[in-house]
Amino acid sequence: MSAPNSSYDPVEVTALKADQVDAMVSAALAAVAAARDLDGLKAVRSAHAGDRSPLALANREIGALPPQARKDAGMRVGRARSAVNQALAARAVELEAEAEARMLVEETVDVTLPWDREPRGARHPLTTLQELVGDVFVAMGWEVAEGPELEAEWLNFDALNLGPDHPARTMQDTFWLEPADGGLVLRTHTSPVQARTMLERTPPIYVVCPGRVFRTDELDATHTPVFNQVEGLVVDRGITMAHLKGTLDHFAEAMFGEGITTRFRPSYFPFTEPSAEVDLVCFVCRGQEPAVATCRTCKGEGWIEWGGCGVVNPRVLTACGVDAETYTGFAFGMGLERTLMFRHGVGDMRDLVEGDVRFTEAFGTEIS
Ligand code: DAH
Repeated sequence: MSAPNSSYDPVEVTALKADQVDAMVSAALAAVAAARDLDGLKAVRSAHAGDRSPLALANREIGALPPQARKDAGMRVGRARSAVNQALAARAVELEAEAEARMLVEETVDVTLPWDREPRGARHPLTTLQELVGDVFVAMGWEVAEGPELEAEWLNFDALNLGPDHPARTMQDTFWLEPADGGLVLRTHTSPVQARTMLERTPPIYVVCPGRVFRTDELDATHTPVFNQVEGLVVDRGITMAHLKGTLDHFAEAMFGEGITTRFRPSYFPFTEPSAEVDLVCFVCRGQEPAVATCRTCKGEGWIEWGGCGVVNPRVLTACGVDAETYTGFAFGMGLERTLMFRHGVGDMRDLVEGDVRFTEAFGTEIS
């Protein structure tokens, strides 16, 4: 082991010269002052006070000095290191306070803001309307019946007196399922639910059947290939067209308000005889002079077409197993989209099928 060299001149150890140590301290203090945040300060700490910092390296040189020089150099370096450590600690306190203050501002929660901003969505108005229609009839003691959307050709047509060669078959633009002779269609109307109900139950029958139907129409302002209808069917003893008229007047007023009653126009449907088109009193001009003359809703007619109806054709009763000698009945069918459009002044059918929440939200979550 070699003894310290007594002729060693500390002045020769550059790292320990007073001006060098002062320069290290000033560089460290400048870097501390320049640190903008706690991460920056961490880097400054490791560069100026870490194990490999100039001051730490200088400290290591002290051991190599002759004993008489160690004290002086030790004090100088010790003071320098503690000055840097103090500066680091003081800046850390400042930067922590700054970080906390910034966080308070950036993460402020305004407790006075409304808390229920989550959109609730809305029910589709057609769903609501379907339920409303059901309620109007259930309140009179009727029942709600359902049938499948994929229907047997026989129930969609034949049972309803629309035989294979009946000209009215081609009037309903039908989606046929493959194979073409498989006897399956997407139902073109809700009328097959009439046949299903009569086959399943015995009179008296009082049912409404709301549901989706399909026709090969292009989507435009007044048509859609998928739409909804509501069918009504009554089969009982002594049922006449007068019962039908009274029922539809009540239904119309329940849908469109007091005074909006109906009129019948003679028409033809294979499943009813006699048959009629149902018109509503125009709910804009109410058919009253002078407004009716210029009314654009009914085009001066005073009436608006709503649906079809009639006395159930005895051939349909027979086909569905009902004794046509004992029972008579009436039936009607309306488009629900049309009903909704009248009720709420909706001008374009596409609004009903596009599923834009801005449209449905206007109806809210109304429950009938
Ligand atoms: N099913 C007919 C259609 O879709 C509507 C209809 C007319 C239904 C007269 C009926 C009725 O029950 O009696 O065009």
